[in-house]
Amino acid sequence: MPANTDKTKKVKVFLRTFGCQMNMRDSELICGLLQKAGFLICDDADKADVIILNTCAVRQHAEDRVWSQIGAYKSGKIIGLVGCMAQHYKDGAFSRAENLSFVVGPQDIEKIPKIISQLSAFSCQPSAKSLFEKKIWETDGLIRPEEVYHTGFYEDNKHVSVVISEGCSNFCSYCIVPYVRGPLRHRRKKDIIREIQSALDKGADSITLLGQNVNAYQDGELNFLKLLKEIDSLKGLREFDFLTSHPKDTKNELFKLINDLVKLKKALHLPVQSGSDRILKLMHRGYNRKFYLDLVSKYRKVVKGGLLSTDIIVGFPTESVEDFKETLALVKDTGFNAAFIFKYSPRSLTESFKMIDTVSKQEKEQRHKMILELQQGISGKLRKKDKR
Ligand code: SAH
Ligand code: SF4
Ligand code: F3S
Repeated sequence: MPANTDKTKKVKVFLRTFGCQMNMRDSELICGLLQKAGFLICDDADKADVIILNTCAVRQHAEDRVWSQIGAYKSGKIIGLVGCMAQHYKDGAFSRAENLSFVVGPQDIEKIPKIISQLSAFSCQPSAKSLFEKKIWETDGLIRPEEVYHTGFYEDNKHVSVVISEGCSNFCSYCIVPYVRGPLRHRRKKDIIREIQSALDKGADSITLLGQNVNAYQDGELNFLKLLKEIDSLKGLREFDFLTSHPKDTKNELFKLINDLVKLKKALHLPVQSGSDRILKLMHRGYNRKFYLDLVSKYRKVVKGGLLSTDIIVGFPTESVEDFKETLALVKDTGFNAAFIFKYSPRSLTESFKMIDTVSKQEKEQRHKMILELQQGISGKLRKKDKR
């Protein structure tokens, strides 16, 4: 059944997003695809015929929230699990949550409108329904068709996010992203520019370029730095930034561009994860403490007044008090404007999942609190200084 064969009643879809900015952008793509297919996007789960949860698998806590949310929805609705958790559990998700109707991984999102149409048609046939509950899953896709990015749907028309690369091939030992999002793939420059240009034509003037490892971007001869230069020259663009950079792929020339390009924001998010060389090695981050601190000091020298933020994991397996103190000292000495601090969460599929999760929950909480408080003090002081 197409979404609107009955002209008076369109199928209403409610979508809730968990996780990172890539997921936020994917939710926009899903809304765009659904609208194109004639569905109505609604913001009230109670009134919706279909509920979609676009989910994150990066930590256990993120997944727990989704399982309990699914359980809380009333029966009689079509409920879909989409995104990284869908890819993590595949059809196994149906045994975790019996009221799920479909499961779709990040590489298969263009199939969602058709799946909903099939399920809506099916739910109109009570006899068929009583035979068995229909379930559909799509988690084998390897790559998205380029057209998925061009639905033109943005929640906010002034600031838009544009994906430049998908997936990650870094395989940090704790991280599930490469398993659920697949290997690093780059969109072609001409497609990225086409998307940005059409967003600018529609009135956007601020852009965030997205990728799990943006600064490893490559399209033939064109690397990330050249891409930034080209974007900076686009007419109608006022400002832009990018997320997330990996220290091992961060070149000094990047700092020069952050300083020189007029429209590029003077800000850098550079996750350090730990201040201990031993832990960084176990994490397979590909750099050590000194390398990271050298990058920071070059950034500060070149980009005067540039903002700097980071991600940190506390309680990685075997992290000792000494290791933790090194992270604490790094936070104190670096003076980040902001830091996102996470408690280590063992993820199946990953390499560190095989290690014993040695740091107790209580200890992780304490370490988390210590860095959080330290960072809050630093962020507050830096904000005051900026205001002066
Ligand atoms: N590609 C980005 C973001 C990855 S996920 C990057 O490399 O920085 C965002 C953050 O979640 C990571 O930077 C890391 O700090 C955290 N994270 C990832 N896996 C985790 C895990 N198993 N437990 C706790 N935090 C984790
Ligand atoms: Fe995960 Fe590491 Fe890739 Fe970031 S760089 S997404 S932390 S594997
Ligand atoms: Fe989470 Fe997937 Fe993003 S695991 S952090 S939503 S890429």
